[in-house]
Amino acid sequence: MPEWKEIATEAEFTARDRKLVEVSAELQIGLFKVNGEYFAVDAWCSHGRASLVHGEVEDHEVLCPLHGARFDLRTGRHLCLPAVRPVRRYDVKVENGTILALV
Ligand code: FES
Repeated sequence: MPEWKEIATEAEFTARDRKLVEVSAELQIGLFKVNGEYFAVDAWCSHGRASLVHGEVEDHEVLCPLHGARFDLRTGRHLCLPAVRPVRRYDVKVENGTILALV
């Protein structure tokens, strides 16, 4: 059953726009800040073992640094080849400066 977990603080995002979060040995998520909003998706591309946390972000799209697949950070949806599957997205909320994800 998913539960809300603290994954970052807003203060961490004063000097950056993303963070790799190790939720567990099996689950790493990428937390991104775009236009003042936070979005969380699987840290790893659905096409191969590349970290989306190192990808360029434009609007709400992240570009996989390895082969160039793009994903919508709002939905996790894959937007172009070579990815043929979405990445999982996670609900995010902010409470008193703490960022939580439903994982
Ligand atoms: Fe991301 Fe290939 S590993 S597009």
